[in-house]
Amino acid sequence: MGITAATRIVAVIGHPVTHSLSPAIHNAAFDELGVDCRMVAFEVAPGKGKAAIAAMSTLGIAGFAVTTPLKAEVAAAVDVVDEASRSLDSANTVVLRDDGSRFGASTDGTGFVASLLAAGRELDGARVVVLGAGAASRSIVHALGETAAERITIVNRTAATADVAAALAPQAEVGTVDAVQEADLLVNTTTVGMGDPDASPIGDTDLLHSSLTVADIVYHPLDTRLLRDARAAGATTIDGLGMLVEQARLQQQLWIGDAGDASTMRAAAQAELARR
Ligand code: ATR
Repeated sequence: MGITAATRIVAVIGHPVTHSLSPAIHNAAFDELGVDCRMVAFEVAPGKGKAAIAAMSTLGIAGFAVTTPLKAEVAAAVDVVDEASRSLDSANTVVLRDDGSRFGASTDGTGFVASLLAAGRELDGARVVVLGAGAASRSIVHALGETAAERITIVNRTAATADVAAALAPQAEVGTVDAVQEADLLVNTTTVGMGDPDASPIGDTDLLHSSLTVADIVYHPLDTRLLRDARAAGATTIDGLGMLVEQARLQQQLWIGDAGDASTMRAAAQAELARR
């Protein structure tokens, strides 16, 4: 679809932003939906989030996605945020409304939960182990806290950050990796495995079992060592594009009131990864 004077623009901002899959994913959805909207990427230096928002408002940009390391400063700079953004001090999505107001939201955690449901993984009564306690973990723990999951055990190398993550959900506690034996769902939010097909956050593969669903938010490589080990143990697996696509679909709902087809968006992400 071409760009005309009437085309609505949304953006993704980050530092660095050139690795972002968001333009490929969103533009594939806009094409498929027949919506006259395009996403472009802007490199925005840390500390310049507020200025970037003002510039985008001036230009009539409809909204934008936010990647690392700007999520906290964007959450602080907008007028209103949703409950997740407020709890996490993080916004990955902004809507620049026609009346000039700026609304911030966090779709990372809810996107993750949506990816579980899309894969048929129900959470009622589930015992969940979350590996890692960084920003991605916090958004996922917060969203899992709003489900009927029974227990969320957070396992992290650094104890202090695990405590911070555990405070975000009523069912959450800090624990050890042994909890995987009793778990229904294991989520890797650590960066272990990113860019390294041989690295896994679970060294002892005997902990993995066939009644487990294993979700890895790492998508480079897409088939991580953890997911391969999980399949070998008979577990069900969900790769990192699940969350990426579903959080993007929630962003589209906020910007255009509609969302693209998940498989179309996933294919666009895979094509972009293959092109690199
Ligand atoms: P993100 O924003 O993607 O969540 P992050 O905030 O840097 O990234 O968090 C990275 C997570 O991976 C943290 O939980 C980190 O553990 P620490 O809190 O102990 O730093 C975890 N992590 C990174 N490298 C790790 C490694 N080699 N072994 C175990 N955990 C690791």
